[in-house]
Order: sequence, then structure tokens, then C-alpha cells
Amino acid sequence: MQTPIRLGLIGCGGIVQLQHLPTLLDLNEVQIAALADPITENLAKVASATGVPPDRHYADYRDMLSAGALDAALIATPHHLHAEQVIGAAAAGLAVISEKPMATSLDEARAVLAAVERHNATYSVVHNAIFTPGAIRAGELLRCGQLPAPQVGRAKSLFPMTADRHRSSPARIWRAASASGGGCIGDTAYHEIYSLETLMGSPVRYVEARVQTRFFDLDVDDVALLLLEHENGAISTVSTSWGMAGAGAGELGNLCEVHTRADCLRMVGRGTALHRLARATNEWSEIPLAVTDRNRTGHHGYLTATFDALAAGSPPPISGQMAFHNLAIIEAARMATDARRAIDLTEL
Ligand SMILES: NC(=O)c1ccc[n+]([C@@H]2O[C@H](COP(=O)([O-])OP(=O)(O)OC[C@H]3O[C@@H](n4cnc5c(N)ncnc54)[C@H](O)[C@@H]3O)[C@@H](O)[C@H]2O)c1
Repeated sequence: MQTPIRLGLIGCGGIVQLQHLPTLLDLNEVQIAALADPITENLAKVASATGVPPDRHYADYRDMLSAGALDAALIATPHHLHAEQVIGAAAAGLAVISEKPMATSLDEARAVLAAVERHNATYSVVHNAIFTPGAIRAGELLRCGQLPAPQVGRAKSLFPMTADRHRSSPARIWRAASASGGGCIGDTAYHEIYSLETLMGSPVRYVEARVQTRFFDLDVDDVALLLLEHENGAISTVSTSWGMAGAGAGELGNLCEVHTRADCLRMVGRGTALHRLARATNEWSEIPLAVTDRNRTGHHGYLTATFDALAAGSPPPISGQMAFHNLAIIEAARMATDARRAIDLTEL
């Protein structure tokens, strides 16, 4: 693709302002050329950071797509809008990068993949958590043969939200509503699932789970417990909740760890810290990482790798199939809850 890549942003909210912009503004191959968001205040904030002129601001993303003069779109809107917007951008001939999840159901996700293929569009979904310093280092240790294959893993993201926090910001409101594709498994545990699967080094095949609403008066899940069996027979668990205090009394709120027949690796805070347990001495040691404000969430690494790939005409690091697989695990967890049995992903 010719550079600079003329990029249109669909959605100019929290994640764009906090994590996408600092990297996008630094990438030589990217020129932010148009902005779409129905909330004028968010549009104005991103316009002032990027210098996109007012005649390229749009309340309706469809007007931005029809105006043309773009090469790619970055979608960061509430979940229920992703499928429609990805399909629209692909039909307009753009490369499309979408925030997670790719859609709110597998039927929608299949429609996205079909549209992307029909329009021959490059498509990728933001799986930033495997680009954090901890995840990169853990992957190196596991792949370079220093550690044998993980046999058991666990990941958790347990946060003690209050009912007020669910209603205190627009982002909280849509995340806590079924109509916009909210819920803790699709929002929060989304990252734990692909992070753990990546460290385990083997795709998930069977999913047993309970996805429930136990803490808040919401129409979405606020707790999800998953038991996963991987293709190689290894097993792992994912626990996520908005209603469980997991950060007090020495207990960590977020971690992702794998146990091998030798040492164990534990990522904390989505890969901002990494620890190794030596089986021989039963002692933990911290593995040094160069964590900065820029690289701590992994968005910097993900966006850099993705736009580098677009510029080079090579496939982006996270494919639509990878995002489909992660969504399939989430959908299987819901099915397992209803059926009270394990779901084989090949059934979906
Ligand atoms: N990868 C991560 O670590 C991570 C972290 C946070 C959020 N996210 C994802 O980013 C996306 C946005 O989350 P957020 O926290 O920024 O939410 P947010 O509510 O802060 O921002 C969403 C923005 O989308 C805009 N919007 C709504 N309808 C629109 C439409 N039809 N067209 C264009 N814009 C529209 C809203 O006005 C708002 O400005 C979600 O998919 C979320 O899952 C990912």
C-alpha cells in the first residue's frame, strides 16, 4: 500500500485518545486524514490532537466513507457497531483495523469474514495484549526451548466494580448493556483468553464454562469461569468478573500464568510485569522488562506491526481468523453455560 496511509478513524473515544493516538501520530507511514464520531466533544478532542481539518469531520461514518480519499479505517466504537462498520469500510475499498471483538455473534463474524474476502480487503482486529513487554518476553522464553511446553495455565481478571462505576461514563454504560454487545467475558476476558492461549502454545479445542450475572442488576454477564482443553491435551482456566475483589490481601486482580514440567511463568497486569518460579528452589524471581507508558498496553506494538505490514503489503499480525477463534471461545462459553456441558469448537 502506498504511504502515507490515509487513515480514517471511526470512533474517537477513550481508547483512541489514550492509546491509539500516541502511536498513530508517531508512525511515519500513517496520516490521520478523517474523523467520524457522533459525539462532537470527542471529535473536537481528536481533531485538536491530530490537526484534521473540519471539512474531514463526520458525525456519520458512512459520509466519511462516501467522501473517499482514504486507504484504511480504524474502528473503535461500541461492540454492536463493529460488524456493520467493518463491512461498510471493506466495501468502500479500505483496509480495516477493528478494535475487539470483531462482532457480537458468530453469525455476524461470518458475515464480516465473507465481506472482507469478497472485497479483498486487508482486515485485522486489535489483540494488543500479546504485544506487551511481558507477553513478548514470555513468548521468547517459551519458544526458544528454555522452558518445556506448558501443561496447565490460568488467567484471571477480577475487578471490584461498583454499580455506580457501571453508570458513571458513556463507555461504562454501553459495556454494561446487552444491546451494545457488553458483558465481562466479551469485554474484559477477551484479552485473557487469547493471551493465555498464546502462552499455552496450543489452540483451545473444548470449552466448559459458566457465564452468569451475579453481582449487578444488568442484562449482561458480570462473572465468567472457563475451563479450557487445548489441542495438545493441556488444560487452563480463565476467571473474569466485575464484581469480585481480586486485588486485595496479596491476591492479584489480573494475571496470566503457565506451568510447565520445569518452571512456571506469571504475567501480571496484562504483561507489565513477568515472574518466573524456579521449580527446583520454589522461588519466584522477577524478569526485568523495559516497560514504558507507550508500550505497557501493547497497542503501540500491535499498531506499529500492523501498519508496517500494510505499508509492506504483507499480512497483518492478527488475522480475521484469529479474532473469529477468540470470539468462538466466548460463544462456546455461553453455549456451555446453557447446555451445562463442554463444547467442542469444531461444532460451531
Ligand atoms: N484493546 C484494548 O485494550 C481496548 C481497551 C479499551 C477499549 N477497547 C475497545 O475499543 C472500543 C471503544 O472503546 P472505548 O473505551 O474507546 O469506548 P468509548 O465509549 O470511550 O468510545 C467509543 C466512541 O465511539 C463513538 N461512537 C458511537 N457510535 C458511533 C458511530 N456510529 N460511529 C462512529 N463513532 C461512534 C462514541 O461516540 C465514542 O466516542 C471497544 O471496541 C472496546 O472494546 C479496547
